[in-house]
Amino acid sequence: MKIGVLGTGTVGQTIGGKLVSLGDEVKMGSRSAGGENAREWVKKAGSTASEGTFADAARFGEIVFNCTSGAGSIEALRAAGAANLEGKVLIDVTNPLDFSKGMPPTLFTGSTDSLGEAAQRELPGAKVVKTLNTVNCDVMVDARRVAGGDHDMFVAGNDAGAKAQVSEILKSWFGWKNVLDLGDISAARGMESYVALWVRAWGALKTADFNIKIVR
Ligand SMILES: NC(=O)c1ccc[n+]([C@@H]2O[C@H](COP(=O)([O-])OP(=O)(O)OC[C@H]3O[C@@H](n4cnc5c(N)ncnc54)[C@H](OP(=O)(O)O)[C@@H]3O)[C@@H](O)[C@H]2O)c1
Repeated sequence: MKIGVLGTGTVGQTIGGKLVSLGDEVKMGSRSAGGENAREWVKKAGSTASEGTFADAARFGEIVFNCTSGAGSIEALRAAGAANLEGKVLIDVTNPLDFSKGMPPTLFTGSTDSLGEAAQRELPGAKVVKTLNTVNCDVMVDARRVAGGDHDMFVAGNDAGAKAQVSEILKSWFGWKNVLDLGDISAARGMESYVALWVRAWGALKTADFNIKIVR
């Protein structure tokens, strides 16, 4: 498939690299084409990797991952362009972390909104699916590295077909066994708030190789 990856940080590079290794064509997007991170990633990732602006990546992708910084996320989507994302699935992995007062970060969206909802408001014609934001990026693309994959990933979004497609991607590309549909995009509030707990668990465990499992 042709996939757009918005974001040149660790997450964009990890997801993009995994997708290239699976045989997908991946275009990484940035505020300006030709930046150092993106060029280095293209060199490393392989012949089906390319880079450009956020708009280039959004136009290129049949599916698009949003891996931009929480604070810059909506600005990045605006630059990507609603027309370039119209009718497409946008997989949103962002977290609204505010590090301005140091560690641990706070959430700048509060408890009555989320970046998932803000993305869907910004792009009414796109099918935003919130997922993967609750784990470290190495775990995102290789669920089996924790407990053989016996733990849970969540999806939230307004479009049932988009969530089914994303769940299939999580399972067949990234090795997830358990994908729990939490409902419409407002469930992103809980998923993003969970990151406050993730950060403290990370501090206590001294590793990012962990996740949670819902037991019934
Ligand atoms: N690190 C993890 O394992 C992990 C796990 C779960 C979720 N997340 C979430 O994943 C996202 C990506 O994290 P990351 O650490 O890879 O990268 P990051 O440093 O948070 O974000 C880098 C990207 O954000 C863009 N950006 C920054 N400020 C911007 C602005 N004002 N307007 C438009 N774009 C802007 C940058 O554009 P340029 O390329 O132009 O510089 C770059 O592409 C974050 O929301 C993070 O909370 C991370």
